[in-house]
Amino acid sequence: MDIDLRYITEEHYEPFVKTIERSFGAHADEESIAIFSRMLKQGRALAAFEGEEIVGGSFVFARQMNIPGDREILTAVVSGAGVQPTHRRRGILTAMMDKHLAESRDRGEALVILGASESVIYGRYGFGIASHEERWTIDRRHTAFAHAPRVSGRVRFIEKDDAPDSLPEVTARACAGRPGFVAMSGVEWAVLIADMERDWRGAGSLFFAVYEDKGKTDGFVIYRIRAETVIVISLVAATRAAHAALWQFCFGIDLRTTIEAYKVPLDDPLPWMLVEPRSLRRSTHDAMWLRIVDAPKALEARDYAVDGRIVFDLRDEFCPWNAGRYELDAAPDGASCKPTSASPDITLTAADLGVVYLGDSSFSMLERASRIETVSDDAAQLADAMFRTRLKPWWPHEI
Ligand SMILES: CC(C)(COP(=O)(O)OP(=O)(O)OC[C@H]1O[C@@H](n2cnc3c(N)ncnc32)[C@H](O)[C@@H]1OP(=O)(O)O)[C@@H](O)C(=O)NCCC(=O)NCCS
Repeated sequence: MDIDLRYITEEHYEPFVKTIERSFGAHADEESIAIFSRMLKQGRALAAFEGEEIVGGSFVFARQMNIPGDREILTAVVSGAGVQPTHRRRGILTAMMDKHLAESRDRGEALVILGASESVIYGRYGFGIASHEERWTIDRRHTAFAHAPRVSGRVRFIEKDDAPDSLPEVTARACAGRPGFVAMSGVEWAVLIADMERDWRGAGSLFFAVYEDKGKTDGFVIYRIRAETVIVISLVAATRAAHAALWQFCFGIDLRTTIEAYKVPLDDPLPWMLVEPRSLRRSTHDAMWLRIVDAPKALEARDYAVDGRIVFDLRDEFCPWNAGRYELDAAPDGASCKPTSASPDITLTAADLGVVYLGDSSFSMLERASRIETVSDDAAQLADAMFRTRLKPWWPHEI
């Protein structure tokens, strides 16, 4: 039987959530149906129907995302893409992505982002890895600080229901000027705070602690305990004092031997503050996958570290409207990106452009990886200098 893709409304939310949950190997219950239905209302839920049965689906909502130069751009976030095990590998995800990307282009969402469950899936649709994050493990006995700012505030616990009062504001302040930051809506904070039991994975429920100084909340940590391990789910600090105090707090929790942390930005200064930095075991993981659906708009929207002119030959089989030769001219009063017939300095795919767009990786690196072609070393070096950012991209709370 044929598969029919349709945007759905409230009457279909329950079977939709059940299908998506099943795709990820989970069971929907009353709580997950209620909370995900609130999320679905704020975006576009696309369902794959076989007859009247929903066999797959995915969900998109529009947000502002920080891009280099303290700027923002309207971005589509794809969440919860799933196809039931009964209907895999028949092209349903491909058809959904085709529809989502065209829809985003039509709505003026120049970028589409997602977090991937597996790194094999999204490159074929023109997504590139636009940000990385670190996972840390450290033995508590080796957590002494060699360098730290003066800390005059204090850390205190808050009830999880009070978290939405201060955490979104601190996160926005901590991520000002940080490429890749996407503010979560109230519903998305509610999903985080709901802390559904199936996310516990053998650990306990979430603790929330904030750092306050002079009556102002400047940071927070969200963590769980699993046996002798503190698992830091999120630590966000808007000041240096909050950063040091919150890590010292995590390292000081008694009866635990190990601290594990997730979603740490690549340029977090903590390793440079410890007496024994080698004791901090670090691993790197892909975080945000970025798909540029309107290359000229995306390239004109961000700032560049130095002036320069580059001609790109952009290859894009999945979104053919995007393909072409463009001249990017970055100057102090803004960038322009126009079609051109000039010979290209750099030939690359949309996925490659996604990799360099937020400043996570460089053109020179992609050339060394045999992914892109440059007309000369100078062209790669100029592009590297133009796209370089002060801060590494970071997506602190994947939605
Ligand atoms: C990932 C998932 C959505 C793919 O759906 P699907 O409808 O089977 O995907 P498609 O049939 O459109 O696959 C398109 C291509 O991607 C490949 N592909 C898709 N998912 C893959 C995977 N997990 N591993 C390897 N290849 C995969 C297919 O083999 C196919 O390749 P081809 O075009 O060369 O034949 C589905 O397997 C799923 O629900 N997985 C569990 C939940 C999940 O991980 N979702 C992704 C969230 S980010």
